[in-house]
Amino acid sequence: MSDEGKTMLVTGASRGIGRRLCDLAKATGWHVIETARTPKDGMLQLDVTSAESHDALAAELNGRTIDALVLNAGIYQARGSMENPEYTAEAFTQAMLTHVAGPFFAVRAFMPNLKASTTPRVAIIASRMGSNAHAGGGSYIYRASKAAAINLASNLAKDLKAEGIAVAAYHPGWVRTDMGSAAADLGVDESAKGLLDRIDALSLVNSGSFLTYDGQAIGF
Ligand SMILES: NC(=O)c1ccc[n+]([C@@H]2O[C@H](COP(=O)([O-])OP(=O)(O)OC[C@H]3O[C@@H](n4cnc5c(N)ncnc54)[C@H](OP(=O)(O)O)[C@@H]3O)[C@@H](O)[C@H]2O)c1
Repeated sequence: MSDEGKTMLVTGASRGIGRRLCDLAKATGWHVIETARTPKDGMLQLDVTSAESHDALAAELNGRTIDALVLNAGIYQARGSMENPEYTAEAFTQAMLTHVAGPFFAVRAFMPNLKASTTPRVAIIASRMGSNAHAGGGSYIYRASKAAAINLASNLAKDLKAEGIAVAAYHPGWVRTDMGSAAADLGVDESAKGLLDRIDALSLVNSGSFLTYDGQAIGF
C-alpha cells in the first residue's frame, strides 16, 4: 500500500539522518512534520528530553493524524574506554533522556495522533552498538542507552499491538554525519533511503523487529 499523502513526524530533523529522511519522505509524497530543539523555517519545536515539550507539541497538533512516528534524535558523548573523564552522571542522564525517555514521551504524547491513523507505525532509530549480541566494549553510555531504546521498542511493540500500532527499532548503518564522522562507510542518502523503505514496510506483521537500514535482522 502506498504511503503517499500520509503523515510522518521526525525528531532531530535539523541535520544528519533525520534531515535527509525528511527530504526523501517529502519527495515520495509523505507530509512531514519536521521537529527540532532549535527549529528552523517550517519546523516545530521539540526537545526530546522534555516531557513538557512533547505535550506542548501534541497540543499544537490538536489531534492531527500521525501515520509514522520516527524517533531519530540522538547524541554520542563519552566515547571509548572508562578512562575517558567524560563518563559523568550528567552524560549518563542526557543519553538516557534522549534515547529512552524521549521515545517513551513521544509515544505517550502522540498516542491520540497515532490512533487516528489506519496504519500507525513507530520507528525508533537505535544502533547496532546497543545490541547485546554484538557487544564490542567501550562507549558504555551510548551502548547502554541504545540497548535500552531497543528494549523499549520491544515492550512497546508488545503493548501497542492491541491498538494496531507497529513498533520497531533500526540501525541506520555507520553513516557519514556529524555523529558518524567522515570515516563512516555509508552516505546519509543510502541510510535514509533504506530507513524510509523499512518504515514503509513496518506493520503488525513485523512489529517488534530490530533491523538494519537495509533490512537485515540484528541479534538483540
Ligand atoms: N551516524 C551514525 O553512524 C549512526 C550509527 C548508529 C545510530 N545512529 C543514530 O541515528 C540517529 C541520527 O544520528 P545522526 O548521525 O544523524 O546524528 P547527528 O548528525 O549528530 O544529528 C543528531 C540529531 O539529533 C538531534 N538531537 C539531539 N538531541 C536532541 C534533543 N534533545 N531534542 C531534539 N533533537 C535532538 C540533533 O539536533 P541539534 O542540531 O539541535 O543538535 C540532530 O538533529 C541517532 O539516534 C544516532 O544515535 C547514527
